[in-house]
Amino acid sequence: MNQMSTPPWRAKTITVKTVQSDVSIPTHRLSVYSLFTKYFSGKKKLGEGGNGAVHSYEYSVSKIVIAVKTASSGQRSAVEQLRDEIENFKHIGKHDHIVDMLTYCTSYGEPGNNAIFLELCDLGDLKAYADSCCEQEQAIGNPAQPLEITIWKLYKDIALGLNYLHNDLDHCYVHTDLKPGNILVSRPKYWSDADGLPLEPTFKITDFGPMTQYPLPRDAPHYKWAGTPEYAPPLSEQTPPLRPSVDIWGLGATIQFFALGHHPVQSRETCRALRRALGKDVPNSKQKRLWSTTYWRRQRPTMYRPLNVDVEELKGPWDLGRMQDDYEPYSSVLNREYKALWEKDSGSRITAKMLVKDVIPKMDRQIALLKSQEKE
Ligand SMILES: Nc1ncnc2c1ncn2[C@@H]1O[C@H](COP(=O)(O)OP(=O)(O)OP(=O)(O)O)[C@@H](O)[C@H]1O
Ligand SMILES: [Mg+2]
Repeated sequence: MNQMSTPPWRAKTITVKTVQSDVSIPTHRLSVYSLFTKYFSGKKKLGEGGNGAVHSYEYSVSKIVIAVKTASSGQRSAVEQLRDEIENFKHIGKHDHIVDMLTYCTSYGEPGNNAIFLELCDLGDLKAYADSCCEQEQAIGNPAQPLEITIWKLYKDIALGLNYLHNDLDHCYVHTDLKPGNILVSRPKYWSDADGLPLEPTFKITDFGPMTQYPLPRDAPHYKWAGTPEYAPPLSEQTPPLRPSVDIWGLGATIQFFALGHHPVQSRETCRALRRALGKDVPNSKQKRLWSTTYWRRQRPTMYRPLNVDVEELKGPWDLGRMQDDYEPYSSVLNREYKALWEKDSGSRITAKMLVKDVIPKMDRQIALLKSQEKE
């Protein structure tokens, strides 16, 4: 049968949003492995994390490209995480700031092998997008850092996504691993490549394997926090039940990474000095491998740094090891709203609901102001 001639009355389709238009794919061409291999090709690696490997594939009929997440190893924990992620995606449904699961397959290559089919976010994750922002700014003679308008947009989009997870579903869900690698970036609709990198793209949350419910149902397993050490909440929030405040902390840490270009953690020098003062062991500056082990990553706590101070202050009292000399501080208005995410006491920390109700209107005003200044 000709590729194009699948009778439309038989095919259940999904709509995939692309920059230019919305395109349909009959779902069974994804979920039936033999059809998937027939219609999808051009596998390219998009990324790999602790549990999953993500590749892009092109659909031969419409040339639309999608992302496919599979377990990165045959390890039980990776396979189980992917199975949990499918269930979590089914629960979450659709939202503008949550990456869209198109469908899934439970016999990908062999029975029991799962795959998740996702919309492709064409600007990659927040780390890749941050690099592109820096390159674009540098190319026009500006400091290599994202513009303030983009930081407001990131803050706003992820606050909306978190509010949906925390408050708009049947229960409150906590993502538990909010970090730059778990935020994906898409071009706005009808964006032309000739206009360069978009400054206000759409940011979306992804990676829902470790998502948990709060409060936990009575019989549910109580797992302690197992996210990425550089984005870890204070120790008191790492024991179950994991609360939504953990995601708010992760958002603050993620914004700091995006604005300053470094993981939001204590410097190695300070970690060394503090441990030596207590007579504790610590790797030296040359033992890079040791510093990258989970144990030593966990010894350097995530910490607040202001975004509205100059390089000297960041390197001095705020303990930022390296920083480019031409860094331009962001506004105090931005810093005030960002600082609220770093409240140490989880009970007093701002919530996603408060962000949407009280802070997003301020963000909208700031975004409008920055746009009007650009026009002048
Ligand atoms: N839909 C997508 N579009 C574009 N890139 C994607 C997409 N999904 C994932 N990626 C890329 O693949 C990477 C890994 O994906 P994901 O975070 O889902 O896997 P993971 O193994 O669970 O990660 P980790 O455990 O390290 O958080 C992302 O950081 C991103 O770079
Ligand atoms: Mg991830």
